Amino acid sequence: MDPSRVPGEAREPSQPVRGRDAELTALAAHLDQLRSGIGTVALVEGGAGMGKSRLLEEVATMARRLSIRVGSGVAEPCDTVVQLSALMDALFDGPSPILERAALRDAHTSPEQRYWLLQDLEALLQRAALEAPLLVCLDDMQWADSGTAAARFDDQLAAMVAARDEGLIAGIGLSNVSLEQLRHAAQGTEIVCVQNLFHLADRTAAPLLDACLRQGIAFVPFCPLGWPRGQDNPVLTSPVVAQTAARLGITPAQAALQWLLQLAPNVLLIPGTGSVAHLRENLAAEDTTLDDQALRDLDRVSA
Ligand SMILES: NC(=O)c1ccc[n+]([C@@H]2O[C@H](COP(=O)([O-])OP(=O)(O)OC[C@H]3O[C@@H](n4cnc5c(N)ncnc54)[C@H](OP(=O)(O)O)[C@@H]3O)[C@@H](O)[C@H]2O)c1
Repeated sequence: MDPSRVPGEAREPSQPVRGRDAELTALAAHLDQLRSGIGTVALVEGGAGMGKSRLLEEVATMARRLSIRVGSGVAEPCDTVVQLSALMDALFDGPSPILERAALRDAHTSPEQRYWLLQDLEALLQRAALEAPLLVCLDDMQWADSGTAAARFDDQLAAMVAARDEGLIAGIGLSNVSLEQLRHAAQGTEIVCVQNLFHLADRTAAPLLDACLRQGIAFVPFCPLGWPRGQDNPVLTSPVVAQTAARLGITPAQAALQWLLQLAPNVLLIPGTGSVAHLRENLAAEDTTLDDQALRDLDRVSA
């Protein structure tokens, strides 16, 4: 979260957006549609640094100028495990939040059924949207929890099915999904790839990897070298990984990558790097081998 941001404060971006006329025209058309009473979803996608957050800020500013209620939420890495966190931020954001906290408290009648809460929220949102147009901006959705993501899962899947049927994409991949979401999606269409966080010190997604293996789906473990980065990295700073790598004459990164590769034939690795030396090191991981003792030792690595 931006530390300079005051909760409830409507932000006016300081610099004008440049070179994004087509995107701004498309977003303005969404706002027009919204004002005419038709609900709509706009998905802003692109690589890091292409200005997605700036575009979201701009559309929020445009909406406020048109007296549309706006709520903004930002998902953060730790939000992946906090149910509805990004969506809640957006709904209670600003001086006139989209939802009243009391309404949510009343709606949340079934704590043992977290998806009922989602349905209750949906009903509250529909009621609020009947009163006045509203815009919900969610940034960094790749970090959103499954509850927030579920609110748009089927819409996204339908868009991907349409894109595949039109020949725009070759196959459908899912990212940051639960076992249940994979099951749900695979019942309706063919899924070719799943990408979830998975590394030596975080094996939460192991059942997902197994399910993918059984169904012939490729599995891409993201953050294969551990998360968070730097001195808190539970993989690259692990003494067990360092000792194992030293004994085998390979690097800790290679040990971590080879451990993933040997798990199953459907594992595909895409470790990111800005360094040619690391790229070479990572590519060479494919030619390394972990012996039985290494596998036993590495099995002890945890967060
Ligand atoms: N679906 C999702 O939600 C999601 C989430 C995260 C990532 N991803 C995707 O997964 C891909 C890879 O992500 P990532 O987290 O692996 O890449 P990343 O975001 O680029 O980060 C990799 C980190 O590991 C370091 N590193 C790489 N090789 C190393 C080595 N041999 N020794 C020590 N440090 C090394 C890199 O530093 P140097 O640059 O110094 O090498 C960098 O800090 C990307 O395409 C990303 O978009 C997807």
